[in-house]
Amino acid sequence: MSYHIRRIAICTGGGDAPGLNAVIRAAVIAAANRGWECYGIHDGFNGILFPERYPDGGVFRLTREKVRGIGHLGGTILGTTNKGNPLHFPMKMQDGTTRDMDLSGEILEYFARKELDALISIGGDGSLTIANALHQRGLRVVGVPKTIDNDLDKTYTTFGFDSAVAFATECLDRLHSTAESHQRVMVVEVMGRYAGWIALHAGISGGAHAILIPEIPFDIDKIANKIHARDGEGRMYSLVVVAEGAEPIHGHREILAPAEIGHAERLGGVGERVAKVLGDRTGKDVRVVVLGHLLRGGSPTSFDRLAAMRFGSAAVRALDEGQSGIMVALGFPNVNYVALAEVAGRMKAVPPDSDTLQTGRDLGICFGD
Ligand code: F6P
Repeated sequence: MSYHIRRIAICTGGGDAPGLNAVIRAAVIAAANRGWECYGIHDGFNGILFPERYPDGGVFRLTREKVRGIGHLGGTILGTTNKGNPLHFPMKMQDGTTRDMDLSGEILEYFARKELDALISIGGDGSLTIANALHQRGLRVVGVPKTIDNDLDKTYTTFGFDSAVAFATECLDRLHSTAESHQRVMVVEVMGRYAGWIALHAGISGGAHAILIPEIPFDIDKIANKIHARDGEGRMYSLVVVAEGAEPIHGHREILAPAEIGHAERLGGVGERVAKVLGDRTGKDVRVVVLGHLLRGGSPTSFDRLAAMRFGSAAVRALDEGQSGIMVALGFPNVNYVALAEVAGRMKAVPPDSDTLQTGRDLGICFGD
């Protein structure tokens, strides 16, 4: 079937995650080995929609030379954006208003004009929803699941997640000694949007004493009681991991900036809030560490690197087999394929019966409930 494909394009969308470059490298080499040409689109679809912004015209040839030595590097050589949703593009009008425009037609027209046969779209929920829409409008598309948040359904994990958890765990390891030396409470805020995967996995691995996740609304008194109980046992310090999307039972989620056309709301600030109340309730010295974008940087772990390379090569194999409208997913023992329609717009939260959650409870970690 490979004679159907001669040229493919690759794009990376949404927040970056360690492993993007490993996917790009694997896909380009696997495609080149089939005699296909690869093209990279800058910054999501901006390279196609706004070619005038780029000295190379917005889309450039991805040769083997271009992907040499990038597999271990963080970020993406293509650039990315989480503001460029072409299905809901915030277009400034002459009268000063902003209109929600669907620019997908321009992307389809570009693929037809440049005789590009297929797209590999590497991204999270937003990018895969766009990929699904483009597939429904006639484009041959394969998606690759990326996000540090691990909140994509139908795949065991996304690449980027393991790297984020590894870094957050290392940070917790480092915080134990300073927290203990000063008999302090350290509150560590981590990303993850509306899912608590990073907080849960890093919190347990890093020996946190309380973990607050969006899936379990928290009662701050329960955490204060846990800290008192530890003090009573002579363990005068505590580590509290808070997911950015965690919210109190009687309260609200902390938002840094509201949603705009084509851009989701920005979460953040719950760490400061939890720290303030815990300080008041316990009388202890409390400090806050917000890991934020540090979780997205740096080299991918070997797990993420390998997953990314397996995804990139599987995406090319899928196109070679004539598949479209699917996402490469991590199953056991092999990668598999699921319909984009089954993934788009769905979020994978930590399930209440998760054995990882149960492990935390068995270890005596407080979840604020
Ligand atoms: O989805 C990845 C992620 O890092 C989230 O965990 C976080 O809420 C968001 O992106 C931050 O986005 P931005 O890069 O716009 O600050």
